[in-house]
Amino acid sequence: MEEAETEKRVKSLEDLGLSPSLLRKLSEAGYKTLEALAVANVSELASVVGIPTPTAQRIVNKAREALGLRFKTALELKRERMNLGRITTGSRRLDELLGGGVETKTITEFFGEFGSGKTNICHQLSVNVQLPKEKGGLEGKALYIDTEGTFRWERIEAMARGLGLDPDKVMENIIWARALSTDHQMAIVKEAMELIPKENIKLVVVDSVMSHFRAEYPGRENLATRQQKLNRHLHQLARIADIYDVAVVVTNQVMAKPDVFYGDPTQAVGGHVLAHAPGVRVQLRKGRGNRRIARVVDAPHLPEGEAVFVITDVGIRDIEE
Ligand code: GTP
Ligand code: MG
Repeated sequence: MEEAETEKRVKSLEDLGLSPSLLRKLSEAGYKTLEALAVANVSELASVVGIPTPTAQRIVNKAREALGLRFKTALELKRERMNLGRITTGSRRLDELLGGGVETKTITEFFGEFGSGKTNICHQLSVNVQLPKEKGGLEGKALYIDTEGTFRWERIEAMARGLGLDPDKVMENIIWARALSTDHQMAIVKEAMELIPKENIKLVVVDSVMSHFRAEYPGRENLATRQQKLNRHLHQLARIADIYDVAVVVTNQVMAKPDVFYGDPTQAVGGHVLAHAPGVRVQLRKGRGNRRIARVVDAPHLPEGEAVFVITDVGIRDIEE
C-alpha cells in the first residue's frame, strides 16, 4: 500500500531530483518522460546527452524505480494479469475466444487474407475503447497508425451511430497517423511515447504492421535485415503496451495458398513474422457472406476453438441465431 503511494507520488521527470540543467539536456535530447528514460539505452543516453555512462545508468535506474519496474512476486503477477484492461470487439463470442476481449499490456495480431476483417476490427476497437468500462471499453482514446491508407472516418461514424454514440465525439478521440515508410512508422511509435499519457490513449493500432517492411525489404536476400528491423519495431510496441498499460493491435495480411497441401493452408507472406514476439495471434478466415471465423493460435492460456462473427453496416457483431 505504502509502496503504491510512493509510486503514485513520483510521476514526472521533475520529481527525480535531477539538476535543472540536466533536465534541460534530457528534454532537448528527446527524453521528456519517465517512461522514455526507463526504457532508454544507457550508452545511447550517455552519448546523446553528454554525460558519463554510470550517471546515465543511475538516471535510468531512478526512472525505473519511480515507475515501479522492479522484481515482482508471482502473486503480484497474478493480480496484474487479472486487472488487465480489456476492450470488447463487438462480438461476445470473439471476446470469449480472446479471454474477455483485446487485452492491454499485450500485442494482439490479427492475420488473414484480404477482406478477412482485419481493418474492420481495428476500426471497431478504436470506437469501443472509448466506451465506459461496464460496456467493454477503457474510457480512452485510440491512436491509429495507418500504413496502407485504408482508414475510413465514414466507417467510424457508422460504427459510432450503431452504438448510439455521438459520431463527432468518437472521431475526435481517434488520433490518426499515416505512416509512409518503415522509418516513419517507427518514428511515430517513438513520438507516441509522449502522446499516450498526455491524450489518455488506451489503444494503439498498426494497420498493417508489415506492408512497408515487405515493400522496402523484398526477397530472400533482405529477409535477415527486415526481420531485425521488424523485431526492433515489435520491441517498441511491446514496451509501449507494457509501460502505459495500453492494448496494441497489429494486422498482417497473409495470402491463401491453395497449392500448399501440407501444414497451414495460409501462411504469412514472408514467414510468420510475429511468431516469436510475445502476444496473442488471431487468424481470420472468410466464411459465407459477411461471416468471418477467428481462431487463436499458439496461446496456451486461451481456450481452443473458433468464433464466428459478422461484419455488418454498423460494425462487428455476433451472428443472430
Ligand atoms: P486487407 O486489408 O485487404 O488485407 O483486408 P482486411 O482484412 O483489412 O479486410 P477489411 O476489414 O477491410 O474487410 C473488408 C470487408 O468488410 C468487405 O469485403 C466487406 O465485406 C466488409 N465491409 C466493409 N465495409 C462495410 C460496410 O459498410 N458494411 C458491411 N456490411 N460490410 C462492410
Ligand atoms: Mg485492411
